[in-house]
Amino acid sequence: MKQSEYIDTIKQGDCIELMSEMPEACVDLIITDPPFAIDFKATRHNYNRKGNRVLEGYNEIEGSDYLTFTLDWLSAATRTLKDSGSMYIFSGWNYLKDLLIAIDQCQLTTVNHLIWKYQFGVVTKRKYVTSHYHCLFLCKNDKKRKFYPYRRFNKDAKTENGGSAHYKDKEDVWEIKREYWQGAVKTPTKLPAELIEKILDYSSEKDDVVLDPFLGSGQVAVVSKMKGRHYIGFEIVPAYYEFARERLESGQYLIQKTEEEPVWDLFSEKV
Ligand SMILES: C[S@@+](CC[C@H](N)C(=O)[O-])C[C@H]1O[C@@H](n2cnc3c(N)ncnc32)[C@H](O)[C@@H]1O
Repeated sequence: MKQSEYIDTIKQGDCIELMSEMPEACVDLIITDPPFAIDFKATRHNYNRKGNRVLEGYNEIEGSDYLTFTLDWLSAATRTLKDSGSMYIFSGWNYLKDLLIAIDQCQLTTVNHLIWKYQFGVVTKRKYVTSHYHCLFLCKNDKKRKFYPYRRFNKDAKTENGGSAHYKDKEDVWEIKREYWQGAVKTPTKLPAELIEKILDYSSEKDDVVLDPFLGSGQVAVVSKMKGRHYIGFEIVPAYYEFARERLESGQYLIQKTEEEPVWDLFSEKV
């Protein structure tokens, strides 16, 4: 299919198949968090408070299949990326090694290994509380990739403590709060808009094409649209796809903060 048939659309289905039908080198930026193989189940009983509002059906991957799965989707994604493009992939620590192997096999260059530090880790009794995700910033060609170092803070801007604001913002540990849902239903996982916005600011410009092969709630497409980028996205679970489509079509993005419970507070990591 031609690139124009994908621009500003999302499709329901297996992203590995759907990406292999896309033209080569048509995407400027990929932002995605694939399933983490942590036995995450979006069943309603996993949510002890307002669980009846969580859409079921999350498509988790078995740990033993994770390397093959990662190699398959990452090579399909790499094919769609322009030479000047960048990729940001979120990962838990459990299967990070499989992602690193796949990155090498796809001959991608690691530009940074970022840490997203969030609040509300799962409470533990016999080990430390996990309160971060990894985010691998990758590219095909380190000389050609785009990066806009003063997009968010100019060279002279200062932090409250008098330090350099752009330096602070570009440190590789990002402390960003998880977001709260507003509205009647929700998907079980969501990247904060602030996180996606930061990536879009540094690694893309207006009218660039942003792909998320694992859409979930559609957050990457929604924030890309809000910031004047074109989006392409895929999601295998029909209910999540419908949820994302509705958000994009209604223009009611539901990303305001409320006093409700955090969305990701019950990841079923073994404690
Ligand atoms: C961690 S969630 C993504 C959350 C998303 N970043 C957000 O902010 O809402 C991963 C998503 O990938 C979907 N998924 C799993 N395997 C897939 C596949 N082969 N093709 C497309 N989507 C898939 C899952 O159903 C799940 O919704």
